[in-house]
Amino acid sequence: LTGCGSSSSDKIVFGTNAEFPPFEFKSTNGVIDGYDGIDMAIAAKIGENAGKEVEIANMEFDSLLVAIQNGQIDAAIAGMTATEERAKTVDFSTPYYTATQVMVVKEGSDIKTAADMEGKSIAVVQGYTGETVVKDLGYQYEAFKKGTECILELVNGKCDVVVIDSATAKDYVGDNEGLVIVEDPSAFESEEYAIAVKKGNTELLNTINEAIDKMLADGTISEFAAKYADA
Ligand code: ARG
Repeated sequence: LTGCGSSSSDKIVFGTNAEFPPFEFKSTNGVIDGYDGIDMAIAAKIGENAGKEVEIANMEFDSLLVAIQNGQIDAAIAGMTATEERAKTVDFSTPYYTATQVMVVKEGSDIKTAADMEGKSIAVVQGYTGETVVKDLGYQYEAFKKGTECILELVNGKCDVVVIDSATAKDYVGDNEGLVIVEDPSAFESEEYAIAVKKGNTELLNTINEAIDKMLADGTISEFAAKYADA
């Protein structure tokens, strides 16, 4: 018998960190068992397209790349920016969303540009690209486990500014009165979100890319982005 043994699993286990609305968050009637958001809708479609079952493994953002490497998950879909650094340890799919870092401040803040953060109390989420960006600007900061913790610090006046991804910032600002977003495109480069797989897993990467290419072409991803924008 030929062909036996080369069969791949009929299930894709996607790792995520469901602390990143509108891309992933917990929800009782979510699109995949208890999880909802743009990424979850994309993951479900990838499974549908490939005729495979999809399972979500929720973990800390920092654990995702290691979990791919040790085979605990097949792929990570987590609003993850495809950085050169990360690409040393995993392979990335076709990018599916363009984002940027922004600053979330209290209304009336004197922070108008990234340079205004100098000497201010800055909060970021540990391991997010926002941390790298602030570090590279040379500013001191405090790193928290979750975006919601950063926002709570800001609301309580314990920090002056939160640096985080644009869509998530919008979500938080929508949920918390008195907060506004400050953009500085000259300081913050655009970032591309992509799905990460184990280096060399071209079979899964092709499966994922095929679905992403389709969803980019037919507007499905834009639809998901619009649908969850104020989730
Ligand atoms: N885009 C940022 C990064 O890649 C933040 C992603 C956070 N995602 C999450 N699911 N918690 O670092």
